[in-house]
Amino acid sequence: MSVKDAIAARHSVRAFAKEPLTTEQIHELLEAGRNAPSSLNSQPWRFKVVTDPADLAWFGTSQASRKQAWLGSVPAIIVCCADLEHYVKDSQSAAFFYRDNKIIDGEPMDGIDAYVAREAAKEEAAKFGACAMNVALAVSFMMLRATEMGLGTCWIGMFDEANIKAKLALPAGWRVVNLLAVGRPDEPVVYPRKRKSLEEILLK
Ligand SMILES: Cc1cc2nc3c(=O)[nH]c(=O)nc-3n(C[C@H](O)[C@H](O)[C@H](O)COP(=O)(O)O)c2cc1C
Repeated sequence: MSVKDAIAARHSVRAFAKEPLTTEQIHELLEAGRNAPSSLNSQPWRFKVVTDPADLAWFGTSQASRKQAWLGSVPAIIVCCADLEHYVKDSQSAAFFYRDNKIIDGEPMDGIDAYVAREAAKEEAAKFGACAMNVALAVSFMMLRATEMGLGTCWIGMFDEANIKAKLALPAGWRVVNLLAVGRPDEPVVYPRKRKSLEEILLK
């Protein structure tokens, strides 16, 4: 499948076959995310894969997902997180690596110390925004790879972060960006995708 075909075929799937994902399938998805680009190669994405049926059932309740009941029976949920604790340090060491090895050279690297200091001084909300942007890229890669593998995904943005962090004992420095439901699609209907036209999104 070409990337073009994967982009065309991907859509949000909310009905899945009752068929667990294999370890290899999960590994392939995580590999796709791991190879995404990130700001200063900071790679702030972190993942928790949930496949235990009792835990999955909990995700369909109001405690986890504002009662999106269908989530309770998906084969797997990947909890996609941003590691705010290590983001600045990881950005810094990658930036210095790029500078010292002249991979990125010249003006972008001249003020790198000041840039990193500014990032470090940012409030949590700003740091979260920066990290979440990178996590979203990794998740996009995972969604397209899933399509290529014949799997379906749905990005879930409505969830209770505090409850999920407590339930899964996620580290304090992590923030949850989204849940990614994954499984083999079992859909009665394929909805036509509605998209804005190019005229609506392109400034001429
Ligand atoms: C940031 C974000 C949050 C979303 N949250 C949810 C959600 O909580 N529940 C859900 O069923 N779908 C959710 N979706 C899926 C969107 O509804 C879906 O991507 C959109 O309607 C376009 O349809 P398509 O993905 O099939 O192309 C979310 C998607 C994004 C990108």
